[in-house]
Amino acid sequence: MKGKFITVEGTEGVGKSTNMAFIEEWIKSTGKELIITREPGGTELGEKLRDLLLDAKEQSMCDDTELLLMFAARAQHLHEVILPALKAGKWVLCDRFTDATYAYQGGGRGIEMERIAQLEQWVQADLRPDMTLILDLPVDIGLERAGKRSSPDRFELEKHDFFNKVRDTYLARAKAQPHRYQVIDASPAINQVQQSIQSVLESMV
Ligand code: TMP
Repeated sequence: MKGKFITVEGTEGVGKSTNMAFIEEWIKSTGKELIITREPGGTELGEKLRDLLLDAKEQSMCDDTELLLMFAARAQHLHEVILPALKAGKWVLCDRFTDATYAYQGGGRGIEMERIAQLEQWVQADLRPDMTLILDLPVDIGLERAGKRSSPDRFELEKHDFFNKVRDTYLARAKAQPHRYQVIDASPAINQVQQSIQSVLESMV
Protein backbone atom coordinates (compact mmCIF):
# COMPACT_ATOMS: atom_id res chain seq x y z
CA MET A 1 0.00 0.00 0.00
CA LYS A 2 1.52 3.31 -1.07
CA GLY A 3 -1.17 5.82 -0.12
CA LYS A 4 -1.34 7.39 3.33
CA PHE A 5 -4.30 7.08 5.63
CA ILE A 6 -4.95 10.14 7.82
CA THR A 7 -7.77 10.44 10.31
CA VAL A 8 -9.03 13.45 12.25
CA GLU A 9 -10.65 13.13 15.66
CA GLY A 10 -11.90 15.25 18.52
CA THR A 11 -14.85 16.01 20.75
CA GLU A 12 -17.62 18.53 20.10
CA GLY A 13 -16.72 22.01 18.90
CA VAL A 14 -12.98 21.47 18.29
CA GLY A 15 -13.20 22.79 14.70
CA LYS A 16 -13.02 19.46 12.88
CA SER A 17 -14.79 20.64 9.70
CA THR A 18 -12.74 23.82 9.24
CA ASN A 19 -9.50 21.96 9.82
CA MET A 20 -10.49 19.05 7.58
CA ALA A 21 -10.95 21.61 4.78
CA PHE A 22 -7.50 23.06 5.52
CA ILE A 23 -5.87 19.60 5.47
CA GLU A 24 -7.65 18.73 2.22
CA GLU A 25 -6.40 21.88 0.54
CA TRP A 26 -2.87 21.41 1.84
CA ILE A 27 -2.55 17.78 0.70
CA LYS A 28 -4.03 18.59 -2.71
CA SER A 29 -1.51 21.44 -3.09
CA THR A 30 1.28 18.83 -2.92
CA GLY A 31 -0.21 17.12 -5.98
CA LYS A 32 -1.31 13.94 -4.17
CA GLU A 33 -4.52 12.25 -5.21
CA LEU A 34 -6.81 12.46 -2.21
CA ILE A 35 -10.08 10.89 -1.15
CA ILE A 36 -12.09 12.69 1.55
CA THR A 37 -14.49 10.59 3.53
CA ARG A 38 -16.09 10.20 6.94
CA GLU A 39 -17.32 7.77 9.55
CA PRO A 40 -19.82 6.58 10.32
CA GLY A 41 -20.69 6.76 6.62
CA GLY A 42 -18.62 7.15 3.49
CA THR A 43 -20.67 4.67 1.41
CA GLU A 44 -24.34 4.57 0.45
CA LEU A 45 -25.01 1.81 2.98
CA GLY A 46 -22.77 3.42 5.60
CA GLU A 47 -24.66 6.71 5.33
CA LYS A 48 -27.93 4.83 6.02
CA LEU A 49 -26.32 3.30 9.11
CA ARG A 50 -25.08 6.79 10.09
CA ASP A 51 -28.66 8.11 9.92
CA LEU A 52 -29.75 5.34 12.30
CA LEU A 53 -26.81 5.85 14.66
CA LEU A 54 -27.28 9.62 14.91
CA ASP A 55 -31.07 9.60 15.02
CA ALA A 56 -32.07 11.18 18.35
CA LYS A 57 -35.31 9.18 18.24
CA GLU A 58 -33.35 5.88 18.45
CA GLN A 59 -33.31 6.00 22.25
CA SER A 60 -33.71 2.23 22.67
CA MET A 61 -30.45 1.39 20.85
CA CYS A 62 -28.28 -0.60 23.25
CA ASP A 63 -24.52 -0.02 23.51
CA ASP A 64 -23.55 -3.28 21.76
CA THR A 65 -25.86 -2.51 18.82
CA GLU A 66 -24.26 0.92 18.53
CA LEU A 67 -20.79 -0.63 18.57
CA LEU A 68 -21.65 -3.30 15.99
CA LEU A 69 -23.33 -0.79 13.65
CA MET A 70 -20.19 1.38 13.78
CA PHE A 71 -18.10 -1.61 12.72
CA ALA A 72 -20.67 -2.72 10.13
CA ALA A 73 -20.46 0.70 8.48
CA ARG A 74 -16.66 0.53 8.76
CA ALA A 75 -16.43 -2.90 7.10
CA GLN A 76 -18.36 -1.56 4.11
CA HIS A 77 -16.31 1.64 4.04
CA LEU A 78 -13.02 -0.27 4.04
CA HIS A 79 -14.24 -2.65 1.34
CA GLU A 80 -15.72 -0.04 -0.99
CA VAL A 81 -13.62 3.07 -0.44
CA ILE A 82 -10.60 3.04 1.86
CA LEU A 83 -8.73 -0.11 0.83
CA PRO A 84 -9.17 0.36 -2.94
CA ALA A 85 -7.96 3.97 -2.64
CA LEU A 86 -4.89 3.10 -0.57
CA LYS A 87 -4.04 0.21 -2.89
CA ALA A 88 -4.21 2.62 -5.83
CA GLY A 89 -1.68 4.86 -4.07
CA LYS A 90 -4.17 7.57 -3.14
CA TRP A 91 -4.19 9.39 0.15
CA VAL A 92 -7.30 9.01 2.30
CA LEU A 93 -8.43 11.71 4.71
CA CYS A 94 -11.16 10.39 6.98
CA ASP A 95 -13.28 12.42 9.40
CA ARG A 96 -13.19 9.98 12.36
CA PHE A 97 -12.32 6.29 12.39
CA THR A 98 -11.77 3.54 14.97
CA ASP A 99 -10.23 5.89 17.56
CA ALA A 100 -13.72 7.39 17.79
CA THR A 101 -15.06 3.93 18.64
CA TYR A 102 -12.52 3.55 21.47
CA ALA A 103 -13.32 7.08 22.66
CA TYR A 104 -17.14 7.12 22.35
CA GLN A 105 -18.19 3.47 22.73
CA GLY A 106 -15.23 2.53 24.96
CA GLY A 107 -14.66 5.68 27.02
CA GLY A 108 -18.11 7.25 26.75
CA ARG A 109 -20.35 4.17 26.93
CA GLY A 110 -17.99 2.04 29.00
CA ILE A 111 -17.68 -0.95 26.63
CA GLU A 112 -14.53 -2.98 27.36
CA MET A 113 -11.62 -1.82 25.21
CA GLU A 114 -10.62 -5.44 24.62
CA ARG A 115 -13.96 -6.14 22.94
CA ILE A 116 -13.40 -3.16 20.62
CA ALA A 117 -9.86 -4.38 19.90
CA GLN A 118 -11.26 -7.77 18.84
CA LEU A 119 -13.66 -6.15 16.38
CA GLU A 120 -10.91 -3.86 15.11
CA GLN A 121 -8.69 -6.86 14.38
CA TRP A 122 -11.55 -8.74 12.69
CA VAL A 123 -12.73 -5.88 10.47
CA GLN A 124 -9.41 -4.16 9.73
CA ALA A 125 -6.82 -6.91 10.12
CA ASP A 126 -3.54 -4.94 10.30
CA LEU A 127 -4.81 -1.68 8.82
CA ARG A 128 -4.34 1.32 11.12
CA PRO A 129 -4.16 5.00 10.15
CA ASP A 130 -0.67 6.27 9.33
CA MET A 131 -1.46 9.41 11.31
CA THR A 132 -4.31 10.47 13.55
CA LEU A 133 -4.69 14.14 14.38
CA ILE A 134 -6.56 14.69 17.61
CA LEU A 135 -7.92 18.22 17.86
CA ASP A 136 -8.01 18.83 21.56
CA LEU A 137 -9.97 21.32 23.60
CA PRO A 138 -11.38 21.29 27.14
CA VAL A 139 -14.93 19.95 26.90
CA ASP A 140 -16.53 23.10 28.37
CA ILE A 141 -14.95 25.32 25.73
CA GLY A 142 -15.78 22.91 22.91
CA LEU A 143 -19.43 22.66 23.92
CA GLU A 144 -19.64 26.43 24.20
CA ARG A 145 -18.09 26.84 20.74
CA ALA A 146 -20.42 24.23 19.26
CA GLY A 147 -23.32 26.18 20.71
CA LYS A 148 -26.78 24.83 21.22
CA ARG A 149 -27.93 22.88 18.17
CA SER A 150 -31.62 23.26 17.43
CA SER A 151 -31.96 19.51 16.89
CA PRO A 152 -29.03 17.70 18.54
CA ASP A 153 -28.21 14.18 17.28
CA ARG A 154 -28.10 11.11 19.56
CA PHE A 155 -24.48 11.81 20.60
CA GLU A 156 -24.89 15.57 20.95
CA LEU A 157 -27.59 14.84 23.55
CA GLU A 158 -24.90 13.45 25.87
CA LYS A 159 -23.63 15.42 28.85
CA HIS A 160 -20.25 16.89 29.89
CA ASP A 161 -19.26 13.77 31.80
CA PHE A 162 -19.64 11.62 28.67
CA PHE A 163 -17.50 13.99 26.56
CA ASN A 164 -14.86 14.22 29.30
CA LYS A 165 -14.48 10.44 29.16
CA VAL A 166 -14.30 10.63 25.35
CA ARG A 167 -11.55 13.26 25.54
CA ASP A 168 -9.61 11.36 28.23
CA THR A 169 -9.67 8.23 26.05
CA TYR A 170 -8.34 10.07 23.00
CA LEU A 171 -5.52 11.58 25.07
CA ALA A 172 -4.67 8.27 26.72
CA ARG A 173 -4.45 6.55 23.33
CA ALA A 174 -2.19 9.29 21.98
CA LYS A 175 0.07 8.99 25.01
CA ALA A 176 0.31 5.22 24.66
CA GLN A 177 1.30 5.30 20.95
CA PRO A 178 2.91 8.70 20.33
CA HIS A 179 4.25 7.72 16.86
CA ARG A 180 0.74 7.32 15.44
CA TYR A 181 -0.94 10.39 16.95
CA GLN A 182 -0.47 14.12 17.05
CA VAL A 183 -2.49 15.98 19.62
CA ILE A 184 -3.20 19.47 18.30
CA ASP A 185 -4.14 22.14 20.82
CA ALA A 186 -7.29 23.60 19.27
CA SER A 187 -7.55 26.54 21.70
CA PRO A 188 -5.34 29.17 19.98
CA ALA A 189 -6.39 31.28 16.98
CA ILE A 190 -7.18 29.25 13.86
CA ASN A 191 -4.01 30.21 11.95
CA GLN A 192 -1.87 28.98 14.83
CA VAL A 193 -3.81 25.69 14.97
CA GLN A 194 -3.34 25.29 11.24
CA GLN A 195 0.38 25.99 11.51
CA SER A 196 0.68 23.06 13.93
CA ILE A 197 -1.32 20.87 11.56
CA GLN A 198 0.84 21.92 8.63
CA SER A 199 4.07 20.91 10.41
CA VAL A 200 2.64 17.44 11.00
CA LEU A 201 1.63 17.14 7.34
CA GLU A 202 5.03 18.36 6.17
CA SER A 203 6.67 15.57 8.12
CA MET A 204 4.58 13.03 6.20
CA VAL A 205 5.19 13.96 2.56
P1 TMP B 1 -19.51 13.85 13.42
O1 TMP B 1 -18.55 13.05 12.59
O2 TMP B 1 -20.35 14.74 12.63
O3 TMP B 1 -18.85 14.49 14.56
O4 TMP B 1 -20.61 12.83 14.03
C1 TMP B 1 -20.40 11.51 14.20
C2 TMP B 1 -20.78 11.11 15.60
O5 TMP B 1 -20.59 9.71 15.71
C3 TMP B 1 -19.93 11.77 16.66
O6 TMP B 1 -20.76 12.16 17.74
C4 TMP B 1 -19.02 10.66 17.13
C5 TMP B 1 -19.79 9.40 16.85
N1 TMP B 1 -18.97 8.23 16.55
C6 TMP B 1 -18.92 7.20 17.47
O7 TMP B 1 -19.55 7.28 18.51
N2 TMP B 1 -18.15 6.11 17.19
C7 TMP B 1 -17.46 5.97 16.03
O8 TMP B 1 -16.78 4.95 15.82
C8 TMP B 1 -17.53 7.06 15.06
C9 TMP B 1 -16.78 6.93 13.78
C10 TMP B 1 -18.29 8.15 15.37
